[in-house]
Amino acid sequence: MDIGEAKRLAGIEAAKFINNGMKVGLGTGSTVKHTVIELGRRVNEDGLEIVGVPTSIATEKIANDVGIPLVQLSEIDGLDIVIDGADEYDSNFQLIKGGGAALLREKIVAQASDSMVVVADDRKRVTTLGAFPLPIEVTPFAHLATVRALSNVLDCSVIIRMDGDSPLITDNGNLIADAHTGPTISDPIEMEHEILKIAGVVQVGLFNDMCDAVVLAGANGVSTLYRSNGRLSS
Ligand code: A5P
Repeated sequence: MDIGEAKRLAGIEAAKFINNGMKVGLGTGSTVKHTVIELGRRVNEDGLEIVGVPTSIATEKIANDVGIPLVQLSEIDGLDIVIDGADEYDSNFQLIKGGGAALLREKIVAQASDSMVVVADDRKRVTTLGAFPLPIEVTPFAHLATVRALSNVLDCSVIIRMDGDSPLITDNGNLIADAHTGPTISDPIEMEHEILKIAGVVQVGLFNDMCDAVVLAGANGVSTLYRSNGRLSS
């Protein structure tokens, strides 16, 4: 099975976590896109009644296109579940996210959710986080000073993400600094605290103790892994 088809099947499988009446966080990326499309199909064909909160402008557009009713997170008192992609996950279900530059909204939505399902392909499973450059959303103001501070704290190169010849601008009007730590993040909770101490940092793409299950697409099909003592059970 090619990776595109594996992602599609995993995205559809993850949609099985969603039942009538749920308030659902809709993640961002090429894998969870298939979950959003499948949920739209069930809304239209099966009468599934849900409301969604998108984690990016891109996902908002897809959700609108497929007919999922959307609400503002501020209008409701939390979400039942969020389904989202990830760039890496480790054996403790700690995540790196933000490869699509949507980490701030993704983290706000994940924090407001009673549970989190990640949909990913098996290339994203790592022993130690950090081979994927760690995305950090920073303010445009004094961003080079923030990059220097990050580089000092993390002891690695930190590079402002570009979109062609200009810095990439997030949905929130900020920039993304990618920290090239290498696969060395053995204590992601401590690293998250250290990074968030820097004033120019808006948020970091370490998602600690949030993910309850991973729907995993591999060459041999789709499987679901559950975090022990997580908020979801098999
Ligand atoms: C968006 O900012 C990211 O957190 C994505 O969820 C992540 O990059 C996974 O995307 P893919 O499913 O496209 O790999």
